[in-house]
Amino acid sequence: MILVTGGAGFIGANFVLSWLRASDAEEVINLDKLTYAGNLANLSALQNDPRHIFIHGDIGDKDLVSKLLSDYHPRAIVNFAAESHVDRSIHGPAEFIQTNIVGTFNLLECARGYWAGLQRVDKERFRFHHISTDEVYGSLASSDPAFKETNSYGPNSPYSASKAASDHLVRAWFHTYGFPVVTTNCSNNYGPYHFPEKLIPLVILNALNGKPLPVYGDGQQIRDWLYVGDHCSAIREVLAKGILGETYNIGGWNEKANLEVVNIICQILDELRPRADGKPYADQITFVKDRPGHDRRYAIDASKIEKDLGWRPQETFDTGIRKTIQWYLDNPDWVQAVVTGSYRDWLEKQYLN
Ligand code: NAD
Ligand code: DAU
Repeated sequence: MILVTGGAGFIGANFVLSWLRASDAEEVINLDKLTYAGNLANLSALQNDPRHIFIHGDIGDKDLVSKLLSDYHPRAIVNFAAESHVDRSIHGPAEFIQTNIVGTFNLLECARGYWAGLQRVDKERFRFHHISTDEVYGSLASSDPAFKETNSYGPNSPYSASKAASDHLVRAWFHTYGFPVVTTNCSNNYGPYHFPEKLIPLVILNALNGKPLPVYGDGQQIRDWLYVGDHCSAIREVLAKGILGETYNIGGWNEKANLEVVNIICQILDELRPRADGKPYADQITFVKDRPGHDRRYAIDASKIEKDLGWRPQETFDTGIRKTIQWYLDNPDWVQAVVTGSYRDWLEKQYLN
């Protein structure tokens, strides 16, 4: 089996669902603290699936993590667990330091102890896959080449600094202890189960609810968008074939300015769910105060993972964003529970008591 952390969040849940769709999939132990971003409704399709074992807990809990490792004997750990929202990190960085740095440190130490006690074959097979972000590289000017794995780190927000710190810990555990790690640095994801505080789901839901579509600053900041299903397939490739100690950049070859993204969403909604008054959703676009320290441009050069492991994204932005918008239109119950916060009451009732 494999141990996934943060598997009730956006990418983690997509990963667990896609992993278990394979008929011969190994079981998954899913350790998640269920912060505001963790939503077990994302995993409701697995409620009666014995291959998915959900554990409510913190990656920073040494006793719990050590016990899980010795009880379940996983052959790999995939570490998604993190505080992930840049704006929240600006308002309150403490949780980011705690989970992203101290939590990852604890996970590494528990896993290193467990790995050291494994028999030779299991020891050679073991992998710790750390999920990270392109934001660790800092911000690009418009004429700069896209981030390569060899770029130096230059994180600018409390979030990206905490992720950079965790990447450095993972790297050091490989070099110092020979602990078997791989790290992937991915660009902006979008797709089903994306929590609506991030740009794409926020714009879809605000548009449908007749609310303003907030664009920070001049809206010309550039992100490299990747459909979440493509991120999950890249992780599976790296977990299966990645070279220990290596890092792999994952991206969508899809650079777009925020304002363009918002306009595309508006146009697709005009077609799929026209406004009652016949006006375009783009009328709701509102320019608001910029994010402090806002990085201007991210772009991933994903040629190493393509050359070494044969991975390339399947979705273009056009196909991925349509699927995503359609998913939000088709899943009003999920949306309603998240927007009203009732998913948390439901969790209490269903699981936590
Ligand atoms: P998310 O915020 O949607 O989910 C994070 C999950 O981690 C939640 O389920 C939360 O409950 C859980 N969690 C938080 N603290 C925990 C702790 N101490 N112990 C156990 N579980 C904890 O995040 P996401 O967007 O799914 O991102 C997942 C990972 O991918 C993160 O490491 C993030 O840095 C990285 N990443 C995200 C993106 C993106 O575009 N969203 C891009 C590149 C990399
Ligand atoms: O690049 C990878 C990163 O992408 C991940 O590591 C992070 O976990 C993930 O949250 C995401 O970070 P961003 O800050 O790029 O994502 P967000 O959706 O918050 O913002 C995307 C862009 O849109 C960014 O330039 C800020 C802008 N924005 C965002 C919001 C929420 C707006 O203009 N208006 C908004 O209301």
